[in-house]
Amino acid sequence: MSDALQAVRVTDRVYWVGARDWEIREFHGYRTSRGTTYNAFLILADKVTLVDTVKAPHRREMMARIRSVLEPSKIDYIISNHSEMDHSGSLPETIAAVKPEKVFASANGVRALEAHFHMGGGIEAVQTGDTLSLGNTNLAFVETKMLHWPDSMVSYLAEEKILFSQDAFGQHLASQTLWADEIPQEILLEEAARYYANILLPFSPLITKALDALAKMNLDLAVLAPDHGPLYRKDLGWIMDLYRRWAEQKPTRKAVVVYDTMWESDAVMAKTIAEGLAEGGASPVKVLPLRSSHRSDVATEILDSGALLVGSPTMNNTLFPTVADVLCYLEGLKRKNLVGAAFGSYGWSGEAVQRLEEWLKKMGVTIVAEGVKVRYVPDSEALEACRALGQAVARKLVETVGNE
Ligand code: FEO
Repeated sequence: MSDALQAVRVTDRVYWVGARDWEIREFHGYRTSRGTTYNAFLILADKVTLVDTVKAPHRREMMARIRSVLEPSKIDYIISNHSEMDHSGSLPETIAAVKPEKVFASANGVRALEAHFHMGGGIEAVQTGDTLSLGNTNLAFVETKMLHWPDSMVSYLAEEKILFSQDAFGQHLASQTLWADEIPQEILLEEAARYYANILLPFSPLITKALDALAKMNLDLAVLAPDHGPLYRKDLGWIMDLYRRWAEQKPTRKAVVVYDTMWESDAVMAKTIAEGLAEGGASPVKVLPLRSSHRSDVATEILDSGALLVGSPTMNNTLFPTVADVLCYLEGLKRKNLVGAAFGSYGWSGEAVQRLEEWLKKMGVTIVAEGVKVRYVPDSEALEACRALGQAVARKLVETVGNE
């Protein structure tokens, strides 16, 4: 790794010293089509401070960027805002190389880092309300439990008006620019929604609490600096308002139809159900065939939806494996306030629709009408039943959310 890699100025005394990962396409089950960044920040205060580190394979990139500003041995403090290994993976080696005076994390972070790296202590705990003097400036800490892990906290550098928000407000989006306002808004929105849906959705009630806690502090903010993707220096309320909206999980008239198929019967059923949904007033209607849609695409589409309809052929007395995969993933993400229905084709035993309905109920989806089961290939009567199912779900949706 060449030391030609440079730190990027955030403010006069704060530099980005993270790593760009253009290559990654898989992040614990989530497809990261645009790569990601692991953001780390160097504060040039009397006490030189490194905020977070990077995923282990990218440590040399981080060190090169630090070295472009100062000798890493000049770092006095390291802050670990979040112990997940995309931010802490290079922490032990960084500590060994830098020999900082002190390392700080939340109390949960201290325990989590020890459980990961077995360093035998040496990390000091801070908590909400604590302020760390860096000599000529100060860092304040706010714990943000479950945003994204129990150890998570954010750090606020008042003099520079920067909130180092770790996973919160992040995106898996590698870009040469550091700044969100230099990236097309539709890409920002897509990747912010994808990140929220796939990483943060299960913790939505706690996210609302964390947003309330931050709002109560009335922080004067000029820069929002997450640990992934671009930083915000304009219109910071945009991403915060989106988080508040997504955390509410209010249903909309959008309906999502997810299916896989063996011999196209479930595909024809899905298309007919989609027509029924549109006729009944659902809008938009998204059809996601699992042959060409990743589970994280499905999670992203249901973030702002009101209905989820799932179709599967019966295979060996159970669900088609791709359908089971996506349901397992969605169950963990705990999207609330959805209505839905099931459908599927079968040859002789036909368990899939019942399994789908059981699974949807377990996920908290309100089943609107009995699912449609078709033996082998749907005839016109079966397709009318599919259309009627779509219409019934749409009517329920409109009744629930109105015509807005
Ligand atoms: Fe980016 Fe929860 O780690």
